[in-house]
Amino acid sequence: QTMEQSNKYMFKHKGTYFAQNTTTAEYIDSLEDFEIRDSDVFVVTYPKSGTVWSQNILSLIYHEGHRDGTENINLIHRVPWLEYNLRNVDYVNRPSPRLFATHLPYNLVPRDLRNRRGKVIYVARNPKDVVVSYFHFSNLVVSLEKVPDFNSFLEKFLAGKASPGSWLDHIGGWFTHRDDFNILFLTFEEMKNDLRGAVLKICKFLGKQLTGKELDTVVEMASFDNMKRDARANYENMPESVLERGKGHFLRKGTIGDWKNTMTVAQSERFDSVFKGKMKELPFQFIWDI
Ligand code: A3P
Repeated sequence: QTMEQSNKYMFKHKGTYFAQNTTTAEYIDSLEDFEIRDSDVFVVTYPKSGTVWSQNILSLIYHEGHRDGTENINLIHRVPWLEYNLRNVDYVNRPSPRLFATHLPYNLVPRDLRNRRGKVIYVARNPKDVVVSYFHFSNLVVSLEKVPDFNSFLEKFLAGKASPGSWLDHIGGWFTHRDDFNILFLTFEEMKNDLRGAVLKICKFLGKQLTGKELDTVVEMASFDNMKRDARANYENMPESVLERGKGHFLRKGTIGDWKNTMTVAQSERFDSVFKGKMKELPFQFIWDI
């Protein structure tokens, strides 16, 4: 780990960037042996691809109809981060079904998961919306490196230097190794265009049968407007030391094609010159605008 690969905000370990002070290389290494149960479910994303949304959907699917008071628990406790155990939750003795979120690349997740134990839901989003969302987000989150303008962030993203690393490698790695996992691929755009259909897909994948009414409730509660209002579902009750109030919101716009409001034509072309060719190898039909 050299100095130029790490800074005040991030450290690099095994090719992946992690936020400083929230995890350690030793902890990341220990995850290799973390025992997976068949009932474990992991939401896997590159940042800004719909993680919080999917975490909430997952939690709602498991608890709706009999919420067991989960509405009073912050989402980050219901579906905690694997690599950032921020609240020192006892993951090992957590009752089943354990729900987790992670931004880890496929090669750093627990070995059992790579041997088809547990389930993975990989959510991808068109990367122009990802980079714009991430830029706004980096100004809001205290632990993320501050960049002077969007162009600097774009270059950092294209160079694979935004945590956890290259967007292309993340999605490419998970996709190429899909047969090692019990995995469902979804896109932000299909969730946006047909949330009910996406929830049904997830239910089918998990073997969960919801009544029509329960399904309606999940869809309703996972809408952008409802989550925006619910501080326990939108991360806005994070302490000031984590989120800088007044600088924006975790749930910012939640739309498809917002990149056009930030990226110039030249930036969009620059993006395409680096990404478009390589993206052709991916099986996803990305939707770039509505
Ligand atoms: P924008 O910044 O484009 O608004 P992540 O959770 O992976 O960090 O992703 C955050 C992005 O998902 C944000 O995108 C946020 O608004 C969007 N998002 C979160 N919940 C959503 C919902 N219920 N519907 C639509 N978009 C949602």
